[in-house]
Amino acid sequence: MEYEEIVANLRRIVTSPVHRFPEETIARIKKEYYDKHPKSAKLFEDAKKVIPGGVEHNLSLNHPFPLTIDRVKGCKMWDVDGNEFIDYLMCGAPIILGHHFDELDDKIIEIIREKGPSSGVTSEYEILAAKEIIKHMPAVEMVRFFQSGTEAVMAALRLARVFTDKKYIIKIGGSYHGWSDQVVFDLHIPNTGPIEASGIPGSCQKYTMGVEPNKFKKLRRAFEKAEKKGGGVAAVIVEPVGGESGTHPVHPDWNKTIRELCDEFGALMIFDEVVTGFRLDMGGAQKYFGINPDLTVLGKIIGHGYPSAGALAGKKEIMINLAAGVEGIKKRAYCGGTLAANPITTAACYWAIKLMEKHDAVKKATNFANKLTKEMNDLYSRREDLPFFVYNFGPIMHYETSSFFAVKLTDKDAMNQIFIRREIAEEYQMAIHNQGVHTLAGTRMYTCMQHDQEAIDKTLKAWEYCLNLIPKK
Ligand SMILES: Cc1ncc(COP(=O)(O)O)c(C=O)c1O
Repeated sequence: MEYEEIVANLRRIVTSPVHRFPEETIARIKKEYYDKHPKSAKLFEDAKKVIPGGVEHNLSLNHPFPLTIDRVKGCKMWDVDGNEFIDYLMCGAPIILGHHFDELDDKIIEIIREKGPSSGVTSEYEILAAKEIIKHMPAVEMVRFFQSGTEAVMAALRLARVFTDKKYIIKIGGSYHGWSDQVVFDLHIPNTGPIEASGIPGSCQKYTMGVEPNKFKKLRRAFEKAEKKGGGVAAVIVEPVGGESGTHPVHPDWNKTIRELCDEFGALMIFDEVVTGFRLDMGGAQKYFGINPDLTVLGKIIGHGYPSAGALAGKKEIMINLAAGVEGIKKRAYCGGTLAANPITTAACYWAIKLMEKHDAVKKATNFANKLTKEMNDLYSRREDLPFFVYNFGPIMHYETSSFFAVKLTDKDAMNQIFIRREIAEEYQMAIHNQGVHTLAGTRMYTCMQHDQEAIDKTLKAWEYCLNLIPKK
C-alpha cells in the first residue's frame, strides 16, 4: 500500500466513530482470558511483589495481566498454562530465522562450552561480526558494538556532536530511539514534547528539536532556527520507515529531503535501523531506499534474541572519532560497556547474518507478510462498516483498527480519543489472543521465515471470530 493511501485510511479511521465490543462481550473475553491463564495470573501476583508493576516488557499484551511464557520455537510460543500461540511479537523484532533456531543455537552453545561466555578482551567474533555487517550495509565501513539500541543511539548523538562541532539534534516526532535522556521527547505521537520525560531535567533536552514527520518546511525551519540560536544541527536521527517502525509512515521524499538538508547544513544523517537492519533488507533501509546515512544504529536482529544487541556503524572518517583502544588523546566521543562486543552476542550476530543469507530469511518473511497483509485486508473488507486495514514494509506489518497512534493532538478531544482507542485496540488484541494469536501493542506484527500456512489460517480464523463480536452498525 502506498503512502498516500495509508495516510488517507488512517485519517478515515480516526475521524470516524469507534467500534467497541458491547460491555458483556468484553466481560466474556476477559473471563476467557482469566480461565485460560490461571498460572500466569498467579505468577503476575508474585511478580508484582518483586518487580515494579509486575512486568518489564511493554510490547506484548499486558491487560488484564501479562502472560508468563514457557518456551518458543519457530513461529510459535507456549505459555506456562500450555496455551500455544502463533507469535508475531518475535521478541519485539530481533527474530527472523524463527525462535530457538537450532543451527544458530548450536553455534552459541558450542562457544559457551568450549570458549566461555566472555573475557573482557577482543574475541575473533567481534571482527567477523563487524565484517559481516559491513559486507551487507552500503553506508557502513566501521562498526562499534554496544549492549542495546539505546546505548548505540547515545553514542551516535555524542559522536555527531564531536564530528560536526554542532549542538542540536533533530528528532522526528513519534519515533522511538530508546529511552536515553535526550530522545524521550515527542514519543509515540508527534508534538507531545517532554510529556513522558519525568525524571529527565529539561536541560538534557535543551538541544533536542522535535519536527513532525512529513513537514518539509518545518524541517528546514528547524535547521535555520538552530543556526540562528547558535550551535547548528549536529544530526537528524530518523527511523527510515517512519516513527514506531512505520506506525507514522513517511512521504516517499522525506528521507531524501533529510539527506539533502543534512548536506546543505553540514549535519549528519543518522538512520536508526534497530528494527529495519537485516529485516527490511539484508542491507537495511539504506539499501532498500537507496539513501546513504552517515551513521547507522543497529540492534535487535544483530543479536537474534541473544543478549545484548546494539551497534553504531558508519563511515570510517566519522567512526574513528569514537573513543576506543590505544590510539592518541584527540577529542573523542567517550563510550564503553563491560559486556559490549562479548563473544556470545558477536557470534550470534555473525552466525545469524550468515544463516539469514543461507536461508533467504528476509525474502521468506517478506513473502509471508505480503500474503498475510492481503488476506487480512480481504477479510476486513468483507465488513464494509469497519474501516480496518493492514499495511506492511516487508516483514513489518501494521494492522489498523482504532488507530490511536494516528490521532493528532490538534484533533477534537485528542487525549481522550487516544486513551479510548488504545483500550479498544487492546480489547481486540485480547480477543485474537484468546484464539492463539500473539501480536504487538494491538497494532503491529513482525514476521519470520518460519511463519507458514498454519499461521495464516489461525490468524484469519482469530480475526473472523473477533470481527463477528463487533456489532454491525
Ligand atoms: C527504532 C528503535 N531504536 C532504538 C530502540 C532501542 O533499542 P533497545 O531496546 O535495544 O535499547 C528500539 C527498541 O525498540 C527501536 O525500535
